[in-house]
Amino acid sequence: MILKNADVVLGDGVKKLDIRIENGKIAELAEHIEGEGADCTGLTVFPGLIDMHVHLREPGYEKKEDIASGSAAAVKGGFTQICCMPNTNPVADNKVVISYIVHRAREVGLCKVRPIGAITQGQEGKNLAAIGAMKAAGAVALSEDGKSVVNSGLMANAMLYAADFGLKCLCHCEDASLVDGGVVHEGYYSTLTGLKGSIRAAEDIVIAREILLAESLSLPVHICHVSTYSGVQLIREAKARGVQVTAETCPHYFTLTDEVIATFDTNTKVNPPIREERDRRAIVEGLRDGTLDCIVTDHAPHHLDDKNVEYAQAAFGISGLETSFALSYTQLVKGGALTLVQLAQKMSANPAHILDLEGGAIAVGAPADLTVVDLNRAWTIDPADFASKGRNTPFAGREVYGKVIYTFVDGEIKYREADA
Ligand code: DOR
Ligand code: ZN
Ligand code: ZN
Repeated sequence: MILKNADVVLGDGVKKLDIRIENGKIAELAEHIEGEGADCTGLTVFPGLIDMHVHLREPGYEKKEDIASGSAAAVKGGFTQICCMPNTNPVADNKVVISYIVHRAREVGLCKVRPIGAITQGQEGKNLAAIGAMKAAGAVALSEDGKSVVNSGLMANAMLYAADFGLKCLCHCEDASLVDGGVVHEGYYSTLTGLKGSIRAAEDIVIAREILLAESLSLPVHICHVSTYSGVQLIREAKARGVQVTAETCPHYFTLTDEVIATFDTNTKVNPPIREERDRRAIVEGLRDGTLDCIVTDHAPHHLDDKNVEYAQAAFGISGLETSFALSYTQLVKGGALTLVQLAQKMSANPAHILDLEGGAIAVGAPADLTVVDLNRAWTIDPADFASKGRNTPFAGREVYGKVIYTFVDGEIKYREADA
């Protein structure tokens, strides 16, 4: 198959090229390739998007999502590879659950699914999980996502063991004693609504701890879903002094501010919470200057039953796979903070590099994982159109640019836009 006359996002710029795909790989990249092909004039080809932080809910919470529906949402959102968090039931803290996810995802056969193992058994924060066995079964990282490992000694041990097996810890940073039941960011809007707030320090203290552990042990660490201006600053300073820290943020942290909670819409409830304009701007600046390496969705699908309750009782999380690319492109590239090449780094190359995954670049010999987008196509986000079972989005009705037209995984079309 040949893709003709596309705007191809390479590592050092965007070039008009033809792409020949053969045996699941990119066989040739040239200004003109002889033969029949699909006319991609006006379309932009990105290296297959990689989301290193999603929740697929299977096993255990298939009412919210399963590997089939989550994979369908992924390819519809342009993702060719996703890494799924271990807070399932049972927890992915052993080789059996990890290999179940690997095998079920292969059976579904849409995108590449890479499981993340828990740091501690049952995510209970007491004993380390079987790290070596999980790695052998296909785990690509470790995380306690949903909470932090409270015991600092145990966290240090986790980083040491993880490094022995060539894995990184992906840290959800939250001091539960400071959150203390808070459900939104503490500030003007928590006061206005009467919803219990949580201060930045609840996140920042653990970001600082993970940085200090990484620094002391000379090991890498990755900070999940950064939401505070002060967290961005901690990471920037750590990078400047050579700490091996990488970090991610999510579209909701650079597109929204806490005024959205005044609606009491539980789809705005997410952990960490949506913060203030000062934070939002710092997140954009952190992405721009390289402090924040990746854009992830933290795709956290929930059932209507989990969200159609009082704000304080609702589940935390946003269903993000099908809106991430368009929100990021619209806010950051059209907004002037990032180039297309930088967007491709945040959504493909950097996650591949951080977790040592295949993909991340359009190059001869690489797997033909490609995301073909019409950047000029405006559309309105409508959760009724989601492939995900989770319709929980605060972005319903938002007008965005950038529609995924085709998603190729190993050279096969796994998603095609309805009128393409
Ligand atoms: O909003 C969130 N939802 N944050 C988390 O850390 C966990 C996630 C979930 O699993 O629903
Ligand atoms: Zn988390
Ligand atoms: Zn998460």
